[in-house]
Amino acid sequence: MARKKGSSGGFGWGFLLGLVVTAAGAFAYFKFGMAPARVPEKPIPFERAAAPAALPPTAHTDVAIRTAPFGTSEDVFEAGAHIYKLRCASCHGTPGHDAAPARSTSPAARQLWKRHGGAVGVSGQEPGLIYAKIADGVPHSGMPAYASQLSETQIWQVSLLLKSAGQQLPDPVIGILKGSK
Ligand code: HEC
Repeated sequence: MARKKGSSGGFGWGFLLGLVVTAAGAFAYFKFGMAPARVPEKPIPFERAAAPAALPPTAHTDVAIRTAPFGTSEDVFEAGAHIYKLRCASCHGTPGHDAAPARSTSPAARQLWKRHGGAVGVSGQEPGLIYAKIADGVPHSGMPAYASQLSETQIWQVSLLLKSAGQQLPDPVIGILKGSK
């Protein structure tokens, strides 16, 4: 009986000690920042306005995994084509027509309707990555950031269009891009 009592008493203390150690560990974990820092969904607007060129190369990784809030359709492609024609074609060209290299950019903007290696334009990239490059721009290249000029919907429309640049697009979409409509 005595032995039993003694061992259960030992278990009690060990258990209490364990609790204290666990609590202290949990406290330290959060208090001293060992918990994984939450990466904000988007840079705060000030940060984006103040230092678009200073974004570290990894800044895109959290955005890159974003997925488009809608799928592709002819409407999406047409909306994207209107935006592209107006804002992007002068640097990035249109199907069958390359843009003259802009003096303000370095390197020259990639022609997004031409085949580079295995894929047409950026069609080999994830839509979320294309989105990030359009929204945040490409630092030190002359590629502007469009997050303050286009809505998220508009940027996704263009991103999905460019993702599909290697596919057969509906004639009206090509018409908009080529300016014949
Ligand atoms: C003033 C010229 C200019 C305009 C206008 C412009 N871009 Fe760019 N863009 C560039 C340059 C320069 C780069 C960096 C070189 C490159 O990768 O093409 C770039 C890069 C990109 C990239 C990344 C390409 C890659 O290889 O990963 C995408 C995507 C892109 N632009 C899309 C757009 C879209 C969409 C628009 C319109 C909303 C646009 N750009 C407007 C010059 C421009």
